[in-house]
Amino acid sequence: MKFFIDTANLKDIKEANDLGILDGVTTNPSLMVKEGITGANNITAHYVKICELVNGDVSAEVIATDLAGMIAEGEKLAALHPQIVVKIPMIKEGIKAIKYFSDKGIKTNCTLVFSAGQALLAAKAGATYVSPFIGRLDDISTDGMALIDEIRLIYNNYGYKTQILAASVRHVMHIINCAKIGADVITGPLSAIEGLLKHPLTDIGLATFLSDYQKGNS
Ligand code: E4P
Repeated sequence: MKFFIDTANLKDIKEANDLGILDGVTTNPSLMVKEGITGANNITAHYVKICELVNGDVSAEVIATDLAGMIAEGEKLAALHPQIVVKIPMIKEGIKAIKYFSDKGIKTNCTLVFSAGQALLAAKAGATYVSPFIGRLDDISTDGMALIDEIRLIYNNYGYKTQILAASVRHVMHIINCAKIGADVITGPLSAIEGLLKHPLTDIGLATFLSDYQKGNS
């Protein structure tokens, strides 16, 4: 399973990358604004900085919602760096744009996916990644993980190559359950990724080993 970090914060990206397990980055317009990155030039410069930090796919989201606008914006984003993946919303024009980019060999990430039907369309259009938002479904008392399960089944039935990028991951159990189901990628904040490291018995065991060593070697 690939690990992407879902942030535009360069410090967090570097920290996850330094762990040696990072496979890519996802961003969205809200995450950019959260870091104070505004204005087209600053945003594109920031994408390039992210690409230079990590060795993997970096999703950059289009703002346009019409086909011509998404194509123009996506082509500019894709030209920024070979690691850029054009992130396109799951709307009618978005499906057309994904098909366009797929035919041109440009990688896409179909975002804001909340149903199996949407995921099926994204795969048919040739999306490289589909991003079902688990956490936001959980927020409205719907089982986000059940959606990952459904999409896995459908993609397996037909051998679709579109990678399931489980997004809106909030905590460790989301990651573990995605791994059990067989999601191809998860994207979440640094806290969720680092959460995998933690177990109280590890801390207690290490403290005991170190204190026993000190006793025996002093
Ligand atoms: C996915 O690519 C999105 O950026 C993201 O995972 C949204 O997550 P959120 O629901 O935590 O905002």
